[in-house]
Amino acid sequence: MKHFINLKDISATDLRKILLDAKKRKLKRKKLNTLDIDKDSPLKGKLLIQMFEKSSLRTRLSFYLAIKQLGGGALTLRPDELHLEKGGESLADTAKVLSTYGNGFMLRTDSDYKLDEFKKYLRIPIINGLSPLSHPTQVLSDIFTVEEIKKKPISKLNICWIGDSNNVLNSLIAASVKFSFSLNIGCPKKYEPKKFMIDWVYKNKKKINIFNDAKKAATNADVIFSDKVVSLNDKVNKTKKIKDFKNFKIDSKLMSVAKKNAIFLHCLPRGSEVSDDVFLGRQSKVWQQALNRIYVQKSILLYCFGKLR
Ligand code: CP
Ligand code: NVA
Repeated sequence: MKHFINLKDISATDLRKILLDAKKRKLKRKKLNTLDIDKDSPLKGKLLIQMFEKSSLRTRLSFYLAIKQLGGGALTLRPDELHLEKGGESLADTAKVLSTYGNGFMLRTDSDYKLDEFKKYLRIPIINGLSPLSHPTQVLSDIFTVEEIKKKPISKLNICWIGDSNNVLNSLIAASVKFSFSLNIGCPKKYEPKKFMIDWVYKNKKKINIFNDAKKAATNADVIFSDKVVSLNDKVNKTKKIKDFKNFKIDSKLMSVAKKNAIFLHCLPRGSEVSDDVFLGRQSKVWQQALNRIYVQKSILLYCFGKLR
């Protein structure tokens, strides 16, 4: 059994194995319906329990479909309906009970500490479905989408992020080290990645490039990523933060400095950081990106359950 909490903690070999498995499984499903089960039904009889402390559309649905397609089932808990939320039951006891009923636990949480606490007491794998510090399932799936569209390893591409230094970017930085790709980050000075992330990159003898100018960051990019300026439960002055990012909007002018065949990706939900014509335009691959979460998360589940071939 393996946990999936942070890309930083998973070996590059295992991450690559997950992507390969996802590719094979996706190919085999060409003629199948959404709820048809993969022929080998590798997680038959297994239950994934998921819990969301923050809103979710894509992560909720894609994990539901992922476990279903592998032959198992999913149960979604609302934290406000548990004793845990009201303080009537400890996290340790909750974790032990989850381990007796379920086979895996997917948690979207407002606290990274909680992920570690659950990990301590669970006897089943835990998957991070977004925390304040990272969004690993999203980013691994995005690597899959990039390679699927570009038909080459991500290490041969120029990747650019325009936006806030948030959980998704932290995972993208971790991925840039694990998959050895070049990463340009464009953001206002005040919103640069935290020191602990940059230190970790240097400790691993890799480099990321930070620009306080969107055009410089996007020049010659093969892929431009973005995300909402204000994240879920971001405790900031929203109007001020959005104003601080006014020169970092992804519009057709910014896209024009990237390579001609550059693509635009966004994990969704979106805000005003991207213009409609880019988001809905020919370079945008956001719907394919959202759909691929199912395929990659299936292989993440298999990795966690020790069933990845
Ligand atoms: N991208 C993503 O995680 O979407 P949700 O918040 O809808 O799950
Ligand atoms: N950075 C965003 C991602 C949403 C999927 C957030 O945390 O709200």
